[in-house]
Formats: sequence, C-alpha cells, structure tokens
Amino acid sequence: MEKPKIAIIGHGSMGKEVEALALAQGYQVTDIFEIDNKIDSNKIYNFDVAIDFSLPDAVYENVITLCKLKKNFVLGATGWHSEKDRIFELVKNAGVGMVYSSNFSVGMQIFNKVVKTAAQMLNKFDGYDIMLHEIHHKRKKDSPSGTAITLANIILEEYKKKTRILTETEHGQIEPTSLHVTSTRGGEIAGLHTVYIDSIADTIELTHRAKNRSGFALGALTAATWIHKKTGIYEFLDVIEKM
Ligand SMILES: NC(=O)c1ccc[n+]([C@@H]2O[C@H](COP(=O)([O-])OP(=O)(O)OC[C@H]3O[C@@H](n4cnc5c(N)ncnc54)[C@H](O)[C@@H]3O)[C@@H](O)[C@H]2O)c1
Repeated sequence: MEKPKIAIIGHGSMGKEVEALALAQGYQVTDIFEIDNKIDSNKIYNFDVAIDFSLPDAVYENVITLCKLKKNFVLGATGWHSEKDRIFELVKNAGVGMVYSSNFSVGMQIFNKVVKTAAQMLNKFDGYDIMLHEIHHKRKKDSPSGTAITLANIILEEYKKKTRILTETEHGQIEPTSLHVTSTRGGEIAGLHTVYIDSIADTIELTHRAKNRSGFALGALTAATWIHKKTGIYEFLDVIEKM
C-alpha cells in the first residue's frame, strides 16, 4: 500500500511513539501539531492523513478543523463519546475518511472477541457474575478508559442480565443488573484490562496487558495507511477485517 504523508496531532507519549515508528518505517511526517501550535483551518498543509493522539478536550475542535481542511484522519485520542454524534455528522458532511478506536492494538481487538464470546456463553448459565477492572499510568486523564467502556458495552450487548455500567465505588451494595467497571491510576502501566467472571465454584480472569505503547502506534499507522484516499467512518476492527 502507498505510504501517506503523516501529520501527528498531540506530541505527547503516543504522538512521539507514532513519530518514531513512522520514521523507522519510511513514512514522511510532514507536520506535528501541539497545544501551542494547533492545526489551523486557514493554512495549507501537505499531509495526507492526520493521526490524533491529543487529549479528550481537544478532539472536537481538531475534527472540525480536519473536516474544513478535507483531510482524512485516525482518531486515537479517547474520551470523546459525548461528542460522537456531532463528530460523525461532521465527517459525513465533509466527505472525508476517519478510523477510530479506543484501542489500536491488534491484541485488544482479539481480546474484544474473546470477551464477546465469554459474555454470550454466560447467558446459558446461572450463578456467574461479571465485572471489569482497568489500570493505567498516573497521567491518564479519562476514567474509566475508552477501552474499558468499549469492553463494557460489548458485555452489555451480549449478556442479558447486565443492563447498565456502574463506575463509582461509594454506593454500598451493587445491584445484580449493574456491570461494575472500576479504574486504578498509578505508576507507568501502559494499559491493563481484566474481565472477571465469577461463581461460587470458580473464577475466570481474562486479561489484556499492553507491554508498552508500540502496539497502539503500529495499529494507528496501519489505519492511517488504510484510510488514505478512502472516505467514510470505520472502527479499527473494520480495518483489520477488511485488510
Ligand atoms: N486509541 C488508543 O489505542 C490509545 C492508546 C493510548 C492512548 N490513547 C489516548 O490518546 C490520548 C493521548 O495519550 P498520551 O498518553 O499520548 O497523552 P499525553 O498527555 O502524553 O499527550 C497528549 C498531548 O496532546 C497535546 N495536546 C493537547 N491539546 C492539543 C491540541 N489542541 N492540539 C495538539 N496537541 C494537543 C498535549 O499538549 C500533549 O502533549 C489520550 O486520550 C489517551 O487516552 C489512545
């Protein structure tokens, strides 16, 4: 596949990881945008696809600008669920291409499917409960993680006995229909998600552990190459399945 010229929006931990990998793989990184050097709809840029690993607060403005510029993009930043409808509308109206995911690691896409299958099977059996815990480094701004929300929504879709997500912990006894999703922040953990399935007889612990950020960067770069010269809105899983 033809390598697109890349712009990076947000030059923090992920942006730097994407930059290093892109250069190592022979991509041209033509622009790097930061909070003091934001992407600007009044300027002309040479890049083909932008990869946004900025922060939740910045995403909506960035999407407006990218749509005005008619540029395709990969949305790696998380925490923009409340803006989802407006963002999709902007992308459709602009006729650009977008790939998004709360987790660009291929391993997490496999993990999503494992959790989906487990949650489907639970419907057949009484006596099992299911809950979810995630841990990330101390700098992470959103909580629970976008990945945990994606996993929780998969469980809610598949397992009929859980009807809502409960995230806070100061509530006393939990209702059986609530899916408890909890978070811990500390240290340098790149991302750990565990789904617990528990009964009186046994416990199943399904864990995905990101060892570092390289898998996210590789997935985002793969998505950027794939979305080059395409239009429409795609999840990363669509990209993997269509490749
Ligand atoms: N989808 C995934 O696979 C995945 C993986 C890891 C992290 N993330 C998400 O990516 C985002 C970034 O994570 P990080 O660990 O690199 O955070 P970080 O804090 O290290 O970096 C974010 C950078 O974005 C910059 N920024 C803020 N507003 C901006 C703007 N308007 N324009 C340009 N830059 C701006 C900040 O100054 C900062 O340097 C977070 O939302 C995180 O949850 C997603």
